[in-house]
Amino acid sequence: MKIGIDFGTSFSLPAALINNTPSTLLSSGQYGLPSVFYFDRGLGVLIGNPAEDQGSRHPENVVRNVKMEISNPDKKEFKLDGKTFSKKQIVGHIFREIKRVALEGIEYKQLVSQKIDGAVVSVPAAFTLRELNLIRDAAQEEAGLNVLGFIREPVAAAISYFNAPGSSDEKTILVYDLGGGTCDVAIVRSDKNSKEWYKVIDSDMKRIGGRDWDKLLGELIKRKCREQEPYIKFNARAENKILKAAINAKHNLSKLDRYSSYIEIGGDDYDFEITRAEFEKITSELLQETMKIVENLKSKCATKIDYIVCVGGSSNMPQVRKAFEKNYPDIEIKVYEPEKAIALGAAIYAEHLKEEYFLRDICKFSYGARYVQNFAKYKDWNRLRIYNIIYKGDALPVSGESTSYKIEDGQSSTYIAIYESECKDKIYLPEEGTHIGEIEIRGLRDSKEDDETLLTMTIDRSGLMQLKAVDKRTGKSANVEIQLKDY
Ligand SMILES: Nc1ncnc2c1ncn2[C@@H]1O[C@H](COP(=O)(O)OP(=O)(O)OP(=O)(O)O)[C@@H](O)[C@H]1O
Ligand SMILES: [Mg+2]
Repeated sequence: MKIGIDFGTSFSLPAALINNTPSTLLSSGQYGLPSVFYFDRGLGVLIGNPAEDQGSRHPENVVRNVKMEISNPDKKEFKLDGKTFSKKQIVGHIFREIKRVALEGIEYKQLVSQKIDGAVVSVPAAFTLRELNLIRDAAQEEAGLNVLGFIREPVAAAISYFNAPGSSDEKTILVYDLGGGTCDVAIVRSDKNSKEWYKVIDSDMKRIGGRDWDKLLGELIKRKCREQEPYIKFNARAENKILKAAINAKHNLSKLDRYSSYIEIGGDDYDFEITRAEFEKITSELLQETMKIVENLKSKCATKIDYIVCVGGSSNMPQVRKAFEKNYPDIEIKVYEPEKAIALGAAIYAEHLKEEYFLRDICKFSYGARYVQNFAKYKDWNRLRIYNIIYKGDALPVSGESTSYKIEDGQSSTYIAIYESECKDKIYLPEEGTHIGEIEIRGLRDSKEDDETLLTMTIDRSGLMQLKAVDKRTGKSANVEIQLKDY
């Protein structure tokens, strides 16, 4: 069977269609699998709740929020108890556990097919090619999970919403997904009479999520402790306790106007009380940042928005609904399955991945090339310019062509530097961080100076890059692949 996986910064969740009904594959009562990794030489690798438990004693052996570290160029690997793990290995371990949990869920739900044929994985709205490739390779190579494709998180949530009982067609919704690490927004239209059932009008994201709320609340709790003991020291274990206390307080403040508790640090107990008003005040800038994405997308979209649909665990915070009610008094706001919507949508999409009519998403980046040229011969002062091949905003799948020239007779390989950016111009100057890797075209025999090689680049419906290269004179095709940097 095919499954959908919401690989979250804080929690991960597998889901599948059971008797045609999208259902999560976790025993009841469980929120999700904590995306937490732990290693020590005695216990080995632990994932999820056991990792959290051990992490309280040895916080130095824990990796949290690895999904947010994937694209961090300053963080290449993690050293835990003297052993080094790459990001890909850690992500792979988490996927292995998701797969195990999913298989357990399949068995528990007594499904006929107890085999996972493949998974659609949900990803934030603007995850880059490098991030997608790392997640796919980690799931496939480290966890033996066949990744059938990706879907953008708010788009998955929209599909789930439109498939929920009582939902109506010919509507345009704005999905606001505030998770643990990112805030993703998409405007999606459902129209079963048109060429595509679900059409993404636009989407965007910011790397802001529940963990940023936790940090600010943790700082507040620390200030409250310092008021009682100005010289209090917070070591790694204490910091871990503060983080847990902050998350607990945050969850309680979604239901209560005020919350009081205590925290034990260095053998002393510190009482603290936090009001919801206080919490909302210290985090209001974060919320406003997320509202800017909404306003920006909404102002560009010509279609009328019928509903605002809030998903993601952090949408449980009453400040989210309050902000929408204040900013958009004329639009109905729904908080819909905050924890499950994305996994359920991914599971529905897994069954329709191959059907062109089902979903039309848009390309999130432009992809361009800088060619290795014979500088001495051409004195090409424009050599630092990037020529876009694929443009941000185009409907997926999208293809573009580009020609490169052989510099000398018998040249058997060509390297093309590839850039990923938000720039929609045909030609532009590269900016820092936009160079993502090299395409290598290999094995073109009988080539001569000035021969032209035609490169066809496609961004498929998952946002992944497919490449083809053909020698124009001989008609022979070449091997071509992309090597991504910092991967
Ligand atoms: N009742 C609640 N009140 C406030 N926050 C909550 C509540 N329940 C969950 N959260 C927060 O929601 C976040 C997790 O949400 P979710 O599972 O949607 O995120 P994720 O999928 O792990 O992250 P992302 O989608 O950003 O990668 C955590 O920060 C968690 O503390
Ligand atoms: Mg999420």
